Parts: sequence; structure tokens; C-alpha cells
Amino acid sequence: MTKLITIAFCLVLQAAAAAPVPHGCKGVPPGWKLVWSDEFNYTGLPDATKWDYDVGGDGWGNNESEYYTRADKKNAWVKDGFLYITARKEVKEGRQYTSARLVTKGKGDWLYGRIEVRAKLPEGRGMWPAIWLLPTEDKYGGWPASGEVDIMENVGFMPDSVFGSIHTQKFNHIIHTQTTKGLYVKDPYTNFHVYSVEWSRQAISFFVDGQQYLTFYNSGKGFEEWPFDERFHLLLNIAVGGGWGGKKGIDDAIFPRSMVVDYVRVYQREDVEGKVDSLLQKMTLEEKVGQLNQYNDDLNPTGPVTYAGDNKAKEVSAGRVGSMLNVIGAKNTRRLQEEAMKSRLKIPLLFGQDVIHGYRVTFPIPLAEAASWDMAAIRQSARVAATEAAASGIHWTFAPMVDIARDPRWGRVMEGAGEDPYLGALIARARVQGFQGNGPGSLDAVMACAKHFAAYGAAIGGRDYNSVDMSLRTLWEIYLPPFKAALDAGAATFMNSFNDLNGVPATGNGYLQRDILKGKWHFSGFVVSDWGSIGEMIPHGYVADSKQAAEVAIKAGSDMDMESRCYISNLVSLVKEGKVAESLVDEAVKRILTKKFELGLFDDPFRYSDEKREAAVQNTSASRAVSRQMACKSVVLLKNEGHLLPLSKNIKTIALLGPLMKAKKEMQGFWSFDWGPEDQLISPYEGIADKLGNNTRLLYAKGCGIEDTSRAGVAEAVAAAAQADVTILAVGERQDMSGEAKSRANIHLPGIQEELVKAVQATGKPVIVMVMGGRPLIFNWTADHVPAILFTWWLGSEAGHAMADVLFGDYNPAGKLPISFPREEGQLPVYYNYLSTGRPGKDDSDRFYRTGYIDLVKSPRFAFGYGLSYTDFVYSDLQLSRTEMTPSDSLVVTFTLTNKGSYAGEEVAQLYIRDLVAQPLRPVKELKDFSKVRLEPGESRRLSFTIDKNKLSFYNEELEWIVQSGQFELMVGAASNAIRLHGTFVLK
Ligand code: BGC
Repeated sequence: MTKLITIAFCLVLQAAAAAPVPHGCKGVPPGWKLVWSDEFNYTGLPDATKWDYDVGGDGWGNNESEYYTRADKKNAWVKDGFLYITARKEVKEGRQYTSARLVTKGKGDWLYGRIEVRAKLPEGRGMWPAIWLLPTEDKYGGWPASGEVDIMENVGFMPDSVFGSIHTQKFNHIIHTQTTKGLYVKDPYTNFHVYSVEWSRQAISFFVDGQQYLTFYNSGKGFEEWPFDERFHLLLNIAVGGGWGGKKGIDDAIFPRSMVVDYVRVYQREDVEGKVDSLLQKMTLEEKVGQLNQYNDDLNPTGPVTYAGDNKAKEVSAGRVGSMLNVIGAKNTRRLQEEAMKSRLKIPLLFGQDVIHGYRVTFPIPLAEAASWDMAAIRQSARVAATEAAASGIHWTFAPMVDIARDPRWGRVMEGAGEDPYLGALIARARVQGFQGNGPGSLDAVMACAKHFAAYGAAIGGRDYNSVDMSLRTLWEIYLPPFKAALDAGAATFMNSFNDLNGVPATGNGYLQRDILKGKWHFSGFVVSDWGSIGEMIPHGYVADSKQAAEVAIKAGSDMDMESRCYISNLVSLVKEGKVAESLVDEAVKRILTKKFELGLFDDPFRYSDEKREAAVQNTSASRAVSRQMACKSVVLLKNEGHLLPLSKNIKTIALLGPLMKAKKEMQGFWSFDWGPEDQLISPYEGIADKLGNNTRLLYAKGCGIEDTSRAGVAEAVAAAAQADVTILAVGERQDMSGEAKSRANIHLPGIQEELVKAVQATGKPVIVMVMGGRPLIFNWTADHVPAILFTWWLGSEAGHAMADVLFGDYNPAGKLPISFPREEGQLPVYYNYLSTGRPGKDDSDRFYRTGYIDLVKSPRFAFGYGLSYTDFVYSDLQLSRTEMTPSDSLVVTFTLTNKGSYAGEEVAQLYIRDLVAQPLRPVKELKDFSKVRLEPGESRRLSFTIDKNKLSFYNEELEWIVQSGQFELMVGAASNAIRLHGTFVLK
């Protein structure tokens, strides 16, 4: 009966064309196809074409007290539309109970998919119902190394707890399990619930009734952590007793009991190739070119608008536009999508947006997040941004920016992950995983776009849009790894870049886009140009006019034209004149249409633009809490003499000074959106006031403006400091001083801010300076004289609260700089992984005929990897598992980390290596691994890093990836310039 009602309800729902199909209904979710199912609409034994039995009593290492039988014992049968798997009290081969374990092995074996089981669980202690995925072939040596996905495990003595977990060589359910704790499963025994997983190359996510409660991401570290890129089958089990299920004893009174299964459905991603091909057949050349054309919504330009005054809605309904950017809000995306539905073929628009560090809730700028060295947190930040943006109808973010940057004069350092390719690659992967969630078609995910391909971060002189001139070895070794990591994590799209690379604009660069990206790397997504970059090949002097620009760009592999209009104006005639093969246009169109199909837009073009979801998921307190936590993790403690920080919450009077102390908008950073008063941005002042309540008197004076040259306000600030027990100064950059087109030749603290610091410090009162900005800044006087300094970047919506958490010790800072801070601009570029010269100098004082400057030391002010904590960490007892290795060996480095201070805290322990003699030269240090660990006061932990061939390989002059035998130095420490432990080994 229940089943009939459900089916009727589902039919009604499906009749309403635009309604999304809820879990539990047979409707196939957009972008998926049903590949296997059992609806149990028959009576008798389970369908033998679909199910088999595991028979026997050996147990699974859990000592179940039962014997698994075939169906003749009626332990598994189908009746009234349901499958019952029952445990019965009867003795068999020395076991007290019998049950059936159904498997699809050999009858249903899948690689990736979405598996849904609607079931009611058996009640009772000592019961152990489970739904698992197991490898069909034990390719990596059997359980657990070959993997297991526990879609659902429910243990009788833990009612209302449903477990989802994975088992691998590295992880097991004890350390990698999260329970639903009755949050989603209130009544697993009395009601049916849908237990499901989505499993892809990138991630495995667990759901109950469509609610996602757990996701494991592919670490990229291979089968030891990810044995899941193989065929798996499904197993339905109920056990009795056992080490886990029966730990608390078996309650005979409640047997027999059954797990009742309503259906099992397996979906796999639709094969969209055929659909794309048949649509392409119907398209005119003009319509094809329309798909390659992307327009900006003129209300919110993020670049120079190329052509104003035309009616874009009309262009859309004429089928001349494939994508729009900067259309804000569900209402507006829906409005334009309606125009697209008026076009002849009704091909939906793609909406792209720069969701760089949050959408509705602003997160710390990407460079700040990089300082957390915390991949789970970074991923989570991107997830929140994606969830919010997707509800507004955005399908695609132009992020992550994965450009390595060694020159903080370049304003876009704020948007990346800093200077290191290893850290940059991990962060690129985490961000792609966060944005894309469960992949195309998920309503809480957006497509990622790895940008700017390539080498944009190496603009000469740090001047935005400038030329890049570098060896191909540096390109491959330093600038490309984060792009490759983004691609491996499944990034759906790439964006090319404004710069030329060794004389060829990236947009017209076939080596980058065709040879590397689409060739060697087999990238199957599409490449969007940067804003107007196709047309900008004209002022570059690379092409004569927009027609030639279009020809060069499409041939070089640029698929979509953002705002330059070169494609829409010229591609049709270029094809007709025979200058561009239509197959080139077709290839680009196919790549774009594939994404539209994958997103489910042909099933329902409006499925993302949802004002109700927008209201429900945006700016929630939970998301703000995630932002606050991320902000805390991003703060870097640069100095803390005499343990001035953390401050007590009982200080009587605090002076809160500086041009950024009451700033709100500045907290948001460059790539943020203006939502008006609802922004609820928390200034440092508000954050501190919220923390302290009425016991503390707060004195406020601005002192000066951000770029002021007037000293008029300084006296007031000094007077406030003189009356206070402690002074906190908030200084730094304006929100629009770091970002696109915001290169600065002078990156000292702007205006007279450092004079203000000096004057306040002269009061003799304890001073804490918080420096805010989007890039490394120079503040030498402050660094030399002020006892406590926090670098707080631009921390987003919850900035003030996070700063207060750190200042008053509710959060112990653990951030480490992802980029070197120079002493003067004249040192730039300054970075830690440089090559040694023939006259290196032992240290900064060794300068006689050494590389360096006669008027300044060459080391940075604050080095890559640097950052303090309120507690003290000590490194000791380095051990190497071997001192000689061959390329097929691996070497394990272990050491002890001890928290010797009085606060619990986190440390990012870093592993660097140096190849002592190599041809070509190797850097003096390269980050190869790190581990962020939390230790209680007095706690010690043994940590380890594994070094294998891959960590020792590099590109030779022929750009081959090789290893060279010889001696290596390994260094473990708290920063690139705070190496605590050394070792050496030889690669044979
Ligand atoms: C930037 C891109 C951005 C695009 C769209 C360009 O100016 O370089 O990073 O995604 O504008 O806003």
C-alpha cells in the first residue's frame, strides 16, 4: 500500500515538468541514466539474474554468530513489492542464527555511479544491517586495501546512528567514519529511508534521503588512499552478533527481524556524446558560433565593456549567445534563461561568475586561506560559496585562480595560493573539489575554472597584464603544476590569460592550449578566453584586426570568447571563406554543449535559478560560522614578544586605533559582491566589542585615513593610547588596492600609517598591530619595534569576530605565510625556492663578493612557511628508514613534535628537500610535504613523511621528467627559514 501511494505521488511530481525529482521517486535525475534496478515487483526468491548469495559461516572477522544461507531457507524473499532479508534463530553449522547476504557480484558491477537503496532497518540489539559496495576483483590485495564503501551500516546497540564510511589500506571505519546520529534518520526502524552514495573519480558522497552528510575526496595519492577507480558490486547484509553488532549481547526476544528493501537503483552519468552530436546536426553555423559567444551583463562589469547599447536579451533569444557572466541573482538568471528558451533550438545559457572567495557570505581572500595550509577548510569554504552561487542560477565560477606568484607588486597575488607549486597544487585541488562537489548536475555545485592559463602570475615587474618571459623548464616546474592538479581534480573548464608567454599571447597560444592542455593532458572541458583577451591580441600587436584575432584564437584552442565579440563578428565569414575549418568550430561547440548537458540544463534550464533555495541557503548562520572559522585559520602571527598575546578579556581599557579599525567594506577584499546593508560585515572594532562586553572600556580613534598624508588625527590616537592599558592598531590597504589591475610599485603600508604606529608605540604602552591587505606589505619599523603583530589579510564577512577570537585567545593562530614578505621592493622577486649561485654567501652577513645587495640583505623580512603560535613547538629525533634508496624504494622520515608551551595549538610541520648536485640546477629548498597537527600542552607526537621517486624527480633540459642519482638533503621545520632537523640520503 505504502508503495502504491509513493508511486502515485511520484507520478504526480513527474508530471510537473520542472519539478526536481526527489530521492525515492523513479524519475531519473537530470544528467543520469538508470543502469540497473530491482523494484521487487514480484513474489518469491530474489531475481536470480540480479542477485546471488554469499553462503557460509566463516564470518568477516567480526565473529558474527550466524550462518549465511541460500534462499531455500527463506532468509531472503520478495513479497508485496518488498525484499525481506531476515535473520532467524536456527542452528546451522555451529552457528545460532541464519541469514542471507545478497550480492550483485557478476550481475551488477559498476565503475562510478549513484546507488540508491530505499530500506527499513531491522530493530534490535545485536543486529547489524548493512549496505556495502565491495570490489569485484580484489585488485590491491583484498580487504581493506582493495576498498569498501559502507553506504549504510546500522548497529543495533547504537539506535538512530547510521554510518557511512570507506575502508582503504590507509583508512578504516574507526578513524574515518561520521555518523548521522539521528540527525537525518529519526526512525530507521519504522520508516523507509533512502540510503545512497554518489561515487566518482573525484569523490564519494553519502546521503540519507537526499541529504548529504559525508564526503571523501580523492587525495590523489593513489590506491593506498583511493582504491575506488575499479568495478564494485553491491551487497545487502544483515548479521547477527559479531564483534561490533553483537558487542552488547544479542536479544533473542526480538528475532526474527528483517531488513525490508523497497528498491535498489543504480544510475550512471548519461553518455552525452550522442545527444551533443545530434544537436550539433541541427545547428546552423550562426547558431554554433553563438554558443562560443559570452557576454557580460552590463550592470556589473568586471572589465572594460566592449560594446554598450545593444539589447543583449534580444541577442540571447536570437541564439547568438552561449553564456553570460555577471548576472546576479536567481531572478535575473531566470529572466535571461527565458530569453534563451525563445531561441530556435532552445539551447540554455551558461551563467558564469567570479565566485572567488565567497558569494553571499564573503570568505577570506584566497591568499589568506592559503595561509591556513588546511585543505579540508579550503574545500569547505569553496563548497559554501558554490552552494550559495548555484542557488542564484550560477553554473560556473571563474575560480580557482591557480597562478603561482612571486612578486607581490602584482595585485592579483591576493587571488592565488602564493609562491609554491606544491602547496599551490594541493590548494588548486581542494578548491576544485569544493566548488564542484558531487559534480555536474548537483544543485549545490558549480563548475570550476582553472585560470589563468598560463604563467599570468609572472608578469614582468609585477605589472598586471604585462609580458611573461621564462624558460619552459620554469613554466613546467613552477607554474604548471597547480593547473595539472586542478585538471586531475576534474576542473570542468580553464581560462586563458592576458599575458604573452615568450612573445605569444596565451589566448593565441597553441603550445599552451592545444599541445599541453588538450593534447598531452587530454583536457575534455572547454577553454574560455579572459575578458576581451581575444581582441586584445590587436593592441598586443600579434594580429592586425578582430578577424585575424578570431582566426588565431580558435586555431590555438580558445573555445569561448568572453566579451571581445571577435568570434560572433567573424567566425561565420572565416568558415565561409575557408580560413577556419568548420570542424574547429564544431569541436569548441561540442565541448560547451557537453557541459550544458552534464549540468542537466536541457532537462530543466531553470533548475539552478531558484529564489526559494536562494533565500534558504544564502547567508545562513552556519555558513557565516564556516567563514569565521576559515578566517581564524588564515591569520598569521608574525611577532609576539614577551607573550603579549593572547590578551586577557579582563583588561580595563583598550585603545582601538587605526584607519581600518572600524572598516567594514575593507574586510571583504577585492572579489566580493555588494549586497547592501544585509552584508552584515563585522569590523575589527565590532568584533572586539562583541567579545568583551561591558567590563572593558574601549577608546577609539582613527588616527589617519588609509592613504592620508595629513597628520591631524595622530594626536587623538596617541592620547587614547596613553589612557589605555593596551592598544590595538588596525592598519593596511584599502579593499581595492590589491586585486585585478591593482599592481603597486610601492607596497609599504600606505599613507602615514607607519608614522601613526610609531607615535602610538612611543607612549610606551603595549601595542598590537593587525596588518590587513591583499598582498605581502612592507612595514619594517613596525616589525622592528612593535612587540606583537598579526597579519590578518582581508578576512571576509566575519573578519572582526575572527580577529577578536585570535586576539583574546579563543583561537590559537596557526597560519603560515604562503608567500615571502620582502624587506623592500628592490628585492623583488624574492622567494624561497631559488637556485644557488656560484657565490651564494653563507648567510645575510656573508656579503663580500657574494650574490646580494650592498645596501640591503637578500633574505625576506618574513619567509615562506613562517608563522608563530601562542604555544611553542619543539622538533626532535629525526629518523630515516634508510639512508640509501633506489627509484623504486620509498624512504620514511619520522620525527617527534612536542608542544612545550601552555596552550593547545596547531603546527604545520614542513618537509623540504635539496638535491645537492644536479644537472640542471635544483633549488636550495623545495617543499615536498607538510602535516598540520594539533597538540595539547605537553603532548608529543611522532610524525612521518614518505619520500618516493616522484618527490625527487624534475624536468631536465629536454623537459623530460627524470630522477638523477646522488645525495639529497632533507630538512624538517617550522618554516622555510626555520629548519629544525636535518638528514641526508643517497639516491642510487
Ligand atoms: C579577469 C578574470 C575574470 C574575468 C571575468 C578578467 O578581467 O582577469 O580573472 O574571471 O575578468 O570577470
